[in-house]
Order: sequence, then structure tokens, then C-alpha cells
Amino acid sequence: MLTFEPKDLPIPQLHQYLLNSIAPRPIALASTLNDDGSPNLAPFSFFNLFSVNPPVVVFSPARRGRDNTTKHTYDNLKRRPEVVINLVSFGMTQQCSLAGVDFAQGISEFDKTGLTPIDSEIVNPFRVKESPVQLECKVFEIKELGENGGAGNLILAEIVKVHINEDVLNEEKMIDPHKIDLIGRMGGSYWCRASGDSVFTVNNPPTKIGIGVDSLPPEVIDSNILSGNDLGRLGQLLELPNETEVNDYKLLELSELFIEHEDNSAMLEKKLHQLAKDLISNNKVEEALTVLLTYND
Ligand SMILES: Cc1cc2nc3c(=O)[nH]c(=O)nc-3n(C[C@H](O)[C@H](O)[C@H](O)COP(=O)(O)O)c2cc1C
Repeated sequence: MLTFEPKDLPIPQLHQYLLNSIAPRPIALASTLNDDGSPNLAPFSFFNLFSVNPPVVVFSPARRGRDNTTKHTYDNLKRRPEVVINLVSFGMTQQCSLAGVDFAQGISEFDKTGLTPIDSEIVNPFRVKESPVQLECKVFEIKELGENGGAGNLILAEIVKVHINEDVLNEEKMIDPHKIDLIGRMGGSYWCRASGDSVFTVNNPPTKIGIGVDSLPPEVIDSNILSGNDLGRLGQLLELPNETEVNDYKLLELSELFIEHEDNSAMLEKKLHQLAKDLISNNKVEEALTVLLTYND
């Protein structure tokens, strides 16, 4: 392991380790108004949703590492605590990146990026028309985390109006993750796109209490064949099969395998684990557990 205390690394190096680890991060394209009422737009990936009741997002326009200056977004919010958070889909990637350039105060990133400003309904800053979800927010707290370059400034903002482009909705009027096609920020110049195989489902309803990996036999937990994901799926099952089920299965489905390897228990165990793994990948997780429990039964 590479192990260190944050204080022992130069800030730029620490920055790289942390941004590459805490990733991918969603991106907020934050729209605020400058002192003179002109629009300002900037992307922030130190951003997330932290509460639904009340609905609260937090993002952080940090002090610049190179000269310890503050960002226009932060300065604007100190004066006028209103922001529109615009979520970013793949089609907006390059314009979003362009909005992250340090244009001088008063230069509109809407003009520079070609993104389209549209009026909000409750707050004064503009929404970004191209964004699939636009959140009108009122800032209720700003928490400065330090006075040196790299220090974050947490903007805590309550969502007061939500706008969702109908194109990203499914028939039930819910957001379809494949249609919204969101992007995220990783470290350095790496970004990522939530689409295709990158978007997958995990069926583990939190209201149902699984047996847990610790209920599995030790040789299953220590298997060289079953992965952490395989063990996780077995641990999500709601109960262990009973002894009769295991015996019947062994007799009906596995007697040939047991006879073939009766003098080689290591090979038998390997074959059973491989069979269980194949069953898990075919979503037959209960059957996989039954197979595993036939060993040493
Ligand atoms: C995708 C992306 C994410 C960014 N995330 C952050 C962030 O979380 N915090 C930050 O201070 N700067 C972040 N930046 C850099 C700011 O967007 C950049 O400094 C911008 O010029 C600030 O604009 P402003 O001065 O108009 O507020 C990010 C840039 C990009 C392209």
C-alpha cells in the first residue's frame, strides 16, 4: 500500500491522489449573476445531493491553488445567494469544459460556450437550456474550510424549483439513466460517461435482510474461484437452503460429479465452485448456494 498523511504531500500531488480516488464525480454547471447583473457560468465537480427533505445540494468553488484567489461563483454567491445548478449530459461535455476556463469577471460564459441562457422562475440567475435537469436553488449557508490555496468553500443550497427535459423521461415520467446520458469528472483530464455497459442494475432491496457472507461456509468465503461480487450476491439471499433441499439436489444433479471426483476432494471443490460461479452469472443464485452446500455435506 502507498500510505501517507495528507500533510506530508505537496498540495498538487495530494489533489491528484484524491481527485483520482473520489471519482467519478457528478458535475454541476453553476449559473450565478455578477455584481452588474451579467451572467456567470462555471462547472464544479465537488458537488452532490445531500438531502431530499429538505432538498439540498452542496458544491465547492475552492480557493485557487496557484494564487489563492476566489472564484467568481463564490464571490457572486456571497453577494446574491441564488444559483441554478444545471446537470451535464454527454452532448454538453466540451462546452462544459470551456465554461471551466478562467474568463475575466464580466465575460459571459454563455457567450463563450454557446450554451443558451433561459429565464428561471423563482431565482434570478439563468438556466442552461441544453441541460437535461435544471435546479433553481437558494443558498442558505456558505462554509469556508480554510484561507489557503486549495481550501474549499461549501455552498449549501436548497432546491426551490426543478426543471426536467421531457426527452430524458420514460413512460412512467421517471428519468431514464440511458436517456439522460450524464457525464462525470475523474482525475486529471479523465472524464467518464454513464451509458451503455457502464450503467447496470443491482437488485438488493435494502428492506430485505440478506444472510450475509459470514453465513457461508469458510471454504466458500476463501474460494479462489468466486469473486467478491459472487460472494456479495450469495450474501444477499434471504435464507440458506435446508438440508433436504441440498441432499436432493446432490443426488439428482451432482451424483456423477461426486463419483467422478470421489478420490480428489480438491478437484471436486473446484468444480463445484466453478459451477456455482456459472449459475450466479446466469442469475441462478439460490441454486448456486445449494451447489456450494453439497460439498462436505
Ligand atoms: C468539469 C470541471 C469541474 C470542476 N470542478 C471544480 C470544483 O469542484 N471546484 C472548483 O473550485 N473548481 C472546479 N473547476 C474549475 C472551475 O470551473 C474554474 O476555476 C472556473 O473558471 C471557475 O469559474 P468562476 O470564476 O466563474 O466561478 C472545474 C472545472 C471543470 C471543467
